This record gives sequence, structure tokens and C-alpha cells, in this order.
Amino acid sequence: MDFNQVISREGTNALKLEFRERLFGTNNVLPLWVADMDFAVCEEIGQAICKRAEHPVFGYTIRDEEFYQSIVDWVKNKHDWEISENWVEASPGVVPTLILSVLAFTEPGDKIVIQPPVYPPFFDVIKDHQRVIKENPLVNTQEGYRMDFDHLDQVTSDPDVKMLIFCNPHNPVGRVWTSEELKTAGEICLKNNVLVISDEIHADLVFSGHTHIPMASVSPELAENTITCMAPSKTFNIAGLNTAYFIASNPELLRRMRRKLQIYHLFIGNMFGAEALKVAYQYGKPWLDEVLTYLEGNIDYVKGFLNKNMPEVKVHRPEATFLMWLDFSEWGFTTAELRKFMVEKARLGLNDGPTFGIQGKGFQRLNIASPRSVIEEAMERLLNARNLIR
Ligand SMILES: Cc1ncc(COP(=O)(O)O)c(C=O)c1O
Repeated sequence: MDFNQVISREGTNALKLEFRERLFGTNNVLPLWVADMDFAVCEEIGQAICKRAEHPVFGYTIRDEEFYQSIVDWVKNKHDWEISENWVEASPGVVPTLILSVLAFTEPGDKIVIQPPVYPPFFDVIKDHQRVIKENPLVNTQEGYRMDFDHLDQVTSDPDVKMLIFCNPHNPVGRVWTSEELKTAGEICLKNNVLVISDEIHADLVFSGHTHIPMASVSPELAENTITCMAPSKTFNIAGLNTAYFIASNPELLRRMRRKLQIYHLFIGNMFGAEALKVAYQYGKPWLDEVLTYLEGNIDYVKGFLNKNMPEVKVHRPEATFLMWLDFSEWGFTTAELRKFMVEKARLGLNDGPTFGIQGKGFQRLNIASPRSVIEEAMERLLNARNLIR
């Protein structure tokens, strides 16, 4: 694969481009925000979709045995987690799965814990359904972000707290939680009767030296108390195909989730998404390995560039994800000033830190899943703009 190739997404209704005006007030920004990649998918995915498109009937289509078997095999081979296909259910997306779990296991007024700074829809899936957000903020240390377990224990011991929406690997801070961290967090939840919804959408995008461990694989007890959300969408750049799934070995958790899928009529899948998932999981590993190497190169480049030219901009090396969480707080800007600076001076469309929680003040999230030349252009724009202020 030639990931250096710049592929124009103009004219494809790409969200990353089309929402520039709405988010940044102008189209004149380099869009490095929403979490998809600017790379072509692996050949097998394109071929499978073309093959299916050759048949002229696109009616309601169910998922076959091969779909579920592909998931079971992928999860085993990639994450060393042995699951049964009876524990797996398909869904149209991970965020819809989070919403269904909020509806299935909590009541309006119940409290749900999240660990900000965190993916903004985690706030929405709670607020939009009249549940109450309880924050267990991550702690930013010299060595990287850590969970505050004493605080987690304290918040979850409130009997009104019913659920933790957990992010592993964590967006935006890029942590891949270790088995000790998972065990501690999972056991605190178990002790306090708090169900864990583990969003593991970034599980496959883990860099050398780190290993993704599914929360539910840590122990049989934690498995009973966890719903795991996964998808090929981030991994293989097929978010537009709306195909995800969740895994629960606890039959009661699965039953209640399936009921929600039924009553909201969300059980019919996307035909092309199902074809893509199968070939991605069966044949996509070499492409994934290549893209991970390329992404690591982009991360090295950004880290090197910042260290050399703007050492006051801090960033922890992400252990996973194609997202970098840049800390501009030394510039002393207010939130509005930093946003304005990025758009008007640097002409960059990044995600604004405070949308990930108040802990994101002074931060911007950079998506590095673009050709190196685009990332170089972004860094040059940033440096030129910064030289105007320092
Ligand atoms: C942690 C996390 N969960 C869920 C999603 C989106 O999932 P979906 O598009 O399947 O709803 C994202 C996308 O960036 C994400 O980062």
C-alpha cells in the first residue's frame, strides 16, 4: 500500500470536509479532526463490495454464519480472547450500542461514570437520555495518563451509580490499559454493582510494545459484568459502512441488549458492511500491520517536530489510536483564543480539547491518519502561526 498517496475526498460527502464550515466557520482549514483515515481501504474490501454490488438486488440482508465466525476468529487471533459466536450480536455502530446499553440497564436519573477527557459522545449518550454524568477524571502524570482508582471506588460506591462507560484503548489520551489497571477498575465496579460497558473500538490500532487486553478477558467474574463493544470501522477505515458488534458472555446482559435492538428495529444490518467485515477480518491483517507502521512513523514525525521546534507543546506518545492529544496550555490562551488561533492563524481543523470534558482545556486533538506530506503541512502551518505569537 502506498499510504503516501494523497487521495482527494472532495465530492464524496466526507464528514471531515463537509462539516468544516459548521465546526470551524470556514472551509479554509486542513481537516485533521473526525476519527477516520484518509487512506484507501485494503484491496480485498473494495473487491468484496464490488462483487456484491454486481448482484442487482440490495434488499434486506441478514448476516451469515461466516460473519460471526470471522469475528470469533479475529478476536481470538488478534486479542487472544476465546469467545463463542453465541455471545456476539451485530449493531449499527458503537455509539448506538452505548445508547442501547444505557437504555437497557439504567433508568432516567441513574448515574453513569465516565473518565474524561474522553470521546465527546460519552457525555451525550448519558445526558440525552436523562441519566446523570459522574466523572472519574484521568490523571495526567509525567509518564502519561493514569486512572484514579480511589476516586473511582468513591464515585461508584454511590448506589445510584449503575454503569461505567469505559474506553480501552482510550480516546483521546491513547492509553492501552494494562491488565493490572483493568483488573483494579473492573473489580471496583464489580464490588459496587456497577456494570461495565467497555468501548474497545480502537483495540486493533495498538502500537509496538503494547498489547490490547479486553476487559472481559481479565477474569470470568469481570466477563460476567462486562459488555464489550468492537467494530472493524476504525481499524479498516470503513466507518461509512455502519457495522459494529458487541460481545457478552453473560446471557442475561445479551438478552436485554437484543431486546433493545429489536424494539428499536436496529437488527437489520448493512449488507456491504457485513461483506467488508468478513474480508477485513479474514484478509486484512497485512494491510493493518502496514498502516500501523505508517501511523507510528507519523507519530514519530510529529513528536520529533514538536520537540525540535515547539518543545512547549506537550504530548504523550499514544500507545494506540491514530489520535494525538496535544497540550498547548503553556501558550496561556483561553479556550476561545486557542480555537481562534488554530482556525485563523494556523488554518488547522482539529478537535477542540474542551469537547472531551473540562480537562481538555488547553488541548487540541490531532488525527494523524493522513499521508505524511499532509501531516508535514499541518506541522509547518502550526509552526508558522506559533512564530507569530512567540
Ligand atoms: C471511543 C469511540 N467509540 C465510538 C466511536 C464511534 O463509533 P461508531 O461510529 O461505531 O458509532 C469512536 C469514533 O471515533 C470512538 O473513538
